Amino acid sequence: MSLLGVAAKRIVTADPARITRENPLGVVENAVVIYDERSISWIGPRGSAANVPIVDYGDRVITPGLVDAHTHAAWTGSRHDEYALRMAGADYRAIANAGGGILSSYRAIESSSEDAIAETLAARLGRMAELGVTTCEVKSGYGLEPDGERKQLRAIARVGKQANLPHVVATYLALHALPPSAKNNRDHYVLRAATSLVPEFASAKLASFVDAYVDENAFTVEEARIVCESARRHGLGVRLHVGQFTDVGGAQLCVDVGARSADHVEHIDAKGIALLATHGIKAVLLPLASFTMRQAPPPVAALRAAGVGLVVASDANPGTAPSESLPLAMALAVRLYEMTPAETILGATRLAAASLGLWGGGLSRPRGALAPGARADLVVWDLPHENAILQPWGTPKTCLVFRDGQPIAGANRG
Ligand code: NIG
Ligand code: FE
Repeated sequence: MSLLGVAAKRIVTADPARITRENPLGVVENAVVIYDERSISWIGPRGSAANVPIVDYGDRVITPGLVDAHTHAAWTGSRHDEYALRMAGADYRAIANAGGGILSSYRAIESSSEDAIAETLAARLGRMAELGVTTCEVKSGYGLEPDGERKQLRAIARVGKQANLPHVVATYLALHALPPSAKNNRDHYVLRAATSLVPEFASAKLASFVDAYVDENAFTVEEARIVCESARRHGLGVRLHVGQFTDVGGAQLCVDVGARSADHVEHIDAKGIALLATHGIKAVLLPLASFTMRQAPPPVAALRAAGVGLVVASDANPGTAPSESLPLAMALAVRLYEMTPAETILGATRLAAASLGLWGGGLSRPRGALAPGARADLVVWDLPHENAILQPWGTPKTCLVFRDGQPIAGANRG
């Protein structure tokens, strides 16, 4: 593929080299992005790249492709029945203790073939792409038994090979809930994950990250530590569910095991916030989950003041965040978490990519921002301004969505 260009009135680069206090998203006006399938080669004034075919999108806005850094998108089945019960007042953890919740999705995965999981995930990722997502983290964690986790991760890997869908980052969610067979055998369950499954999935390249649900009523810091230390020994990154319901010391664990992100953090104390800040660990905020769970927001002002990088993700899952929409999570980040539009957009692009190891550290062809050398993952929005992305709740407003320089979604895809 030879060089091509897309021009528009506003190009949101999110490039640190262009960001200033007055221009927090590094916006370039009346500009063109020149790219091929490998990377972006140039961004500059409209009309100055004379030898390259350019499509001009007029008064629209172009942004980096959205990066959803926390999803459970490889689920099958539906939990509409428990959702109705919860909305009528039933407690999430009580439903889980009675065999619903994550265990309900476990039974759905148990009875789904690898093909069926892959097909469901591919359709879901296709819908996410229509909403502007070009990179998506996808966790296992509903397989629970070794065969189920393997089946989910293999399905994720298969879908991850499809160039016409968002780029996929796979996470082995090793400790999510105990399957019935492990009810009286927690220690064995944790040790098997650490000593057998982490090495297997690392060597088969079925996961880039390991995750664990660290909370009261879930897994302890010490249980998660065993699995995370194994992950690091086997070359995998760590991202952790911490402080969704209770602060049990997850921030210190994140530091100890070199986690890239602490996710949820509705409950985190000042010491935990200082630890995340000092160690450059991103907070992945999940407003769809806290909204559905009727929870107070995380301490966003304190996280911001401490300098913690704020990522916004969908948490797409059939229990706590029944949505596939990162733009909806972004809208709620502004409405409920009082994040600024610029913080929110950075948190769903470059900072999200950094939390997945896709931006920063001298990486070649990074994702998450529009800059020379970065991959051409970008969205032409049928909108006049980036702040408008936070408004049309629930409606895809993408005109064209490019991943690696190729259109993968959007109303104008043709
Ligand atoms: O991120 N709390 C743990 N895990 C998920 C929910 C999983 C589920 O209910 O299926 C979360 O909220
Ligand atoms: Fe989650």
